[in-house]
Order: sequence, then C-alpha cells, then structure tokens
Amino acid sequence: MTTGFEGKVAVVTGGASGIGEACVRAFHGAGAKVLIADLNADAAAGLASELGEGAASVGVDVADADSCQRMVNAALEAFGRLDVAINNAGISTELAPIAQTSTSDWRKVIGINLDGVFHCLKAQIPAMENTGGSIVNIASIMGAVGRTGAAAYVSSKHAVVGLTKTAALECAEANIRVNAIGPGYIETPLLQQATLEAKDQIAALHPLGRLGRAEEVASAVLYLASPAASFITGAYYPVDGGYLAQ
Ligand SMILES: NC(=O)c1ccc[n+]([C@@H]2O[C@H](COP(=O)([O-])OP(=O)(O)OC[C@H]3O[C@@H](n4cnc5c(N)ncnc54)[C@H](O)[C@@H]3O)[C@@H](O)[C@H]2O)c1
Repeated sequence: MTTGFEGKVAVVTGGASGIGEACVRAFHGAGAKVLIADLNADAAAGLASELGEGAASVGVDVADADSCQRMVNAALEAFGRLDVAINNAGISTELAPIAQTSTSDWRKVIGINLDGVFHCLKAQIPAMENTGGSIVNIASIMGAVGRTGAAAYVSSKHAVVGLTKTAALECAEANIRVNAIGPGYIETPLLQQATLEAKDQIAALHPLGRLGRAEEVASAVLYLASPAASFITGAYYPVDGGYLAQ
C-alpha cells in the first residue's frame, strides 16, 4: 500500500523530543525523507543516525529568522525539495499570574512559540510555492481556551491558530495547505516537571480520563499532511481526549 509520502521531504522543528520526535518517526516510517530540526542539535543528530537512510538533522533556533532560513536551505541541500513542514518547536514556563510575569519570560515564550512559527512559514512557503505542499503547526488546546497562570503560552497558541488560518488563505492558490493541531496534555518531557499527583489531576481534565501519547498526536499530523486530507486547509484540529468538548 502506498502512503502518499514516498519521495516526499518533511522537516519537523523540535523534532528531537516528544511530539516532534513522534512526528519524525511517523513520517520516516511512512517513507518520507525527514530533516530533524532542533535547538538540541546533538539529540537531533542522534535520532537521525538511529533512523539511518532518509533522515538528516540540523540545529535550529526557531526564534531566529536566519536560522529558520538555514533550516529550509538544509532540507533543499540534503533532499532537493520540501513538501511537508511540521512547526512543532515550543516551550512552556512556570505558571504565574500576569502581574507576576516578567516581560522577558513573556517575550521568550512569544519569541519561540509564535515568532518561531512565523519565521518557519516565511522560509518554508517560498520553498513549496512551485510544487505545493502541506504545513501543520502544533498549537494546543490553549489555542482555543485560556488557562490561569499561562498568559504568554495561551496568547502564543491562540495567535498560532490565527496565523495558520491566514497562511492557509494566502497559500491556497499555490496548493499549499496549512492546518493546526490542538493537542490536549500529552505525556512528553514538557510535562516532566509535573508531580504524579498533578499529572493525575491533569489527566482527569480530559473526558477520556488520561493524558495523550505523542504518537496519537503524530498520527493526526500525518493524516493532515497526507493526500487523504487534500481538501482540508485552515483547520484547527483538537487531539485532546475531549477536553474542548466540555
Ligand atoms: N506536551 C503537551 O502536553 C503539549 C500540549 C499541547 C501542545 N504542545 C505543544 O507541542 C509542541 C511540542 O511539545 P513537546 O511536549 O513535544 O515538548 P518537548 O519539550 O518534549 O520537545 C520540544 C522540542 O523543541 C525543541 N526546542 C525548544 N526550543 C526550541 C527552539 N527555540 N528552536 C528549535 N527547537 C526548540 C526542544 O529542544 C525539544 O526537542 C510544543 O509546541 C508544545 O507547546 C504540547
């Protein structure tokens, strides 16, 4: 059976850990060539060497526009084209009310989670303009609802949803589809600082009664990037165990 990804080239930011790593494994497993792009260049290189043929890596800081352009250049140099981009790199910070949030913490989250997606799109869209393509931005359930103590994160993810819709409109004529995923709480290193008790409480917020797995997000990403989703663009897809249905 063909997957639709044979001969295609994908780049995944934040591809060395968590949801990004699961996306890398899913696309590589489906036959795509994958560029693993991460701030942690060593971890990205380690994953690329584990996967072997069809995988390459590059260090990137998505908060830096030039670095994102170098990432796209690296995909073109390594594999000759770019068909799929998964803009996944993101961070969260300690919870704090707005009045106690420092401007530097605010800027750091916005700089990576929002500016990062903008920088990636700016470099990726021209590389796909002649061939068409598919871009999936990893937002969050916090792209649709608020959360006490997480103003910068929530704002960045709401903005990623708006950026996704605008990019979808701008790119439709070039047959580049742009969609966003809204994961609920997923068991990844991002959640590592939470205690077991806190994790139980977080799990209970999801009607399915558990945290999600990175692979469950990756399978939705793979679908949205695939020809099976050829009429879907500008969408925001929750993958959240029912969190947003409440
Ligand atoms: N884990 C969750 O519960 C959850 C829920 C909703 C959305 N998300 C989103 O999913 C994405 C991935 O999260 P995760 O849980 O897999 O996190 P993670 O911490 O496991 O992985 C994030 C990866 O991004 C990389 N990274 C961080 N800053 C970077 C930068 N400036 N440039 C390039 N790479 C950078 C890290 O090195 C790391 O490999 C994030 O955008 C996050 O906001 C996560």
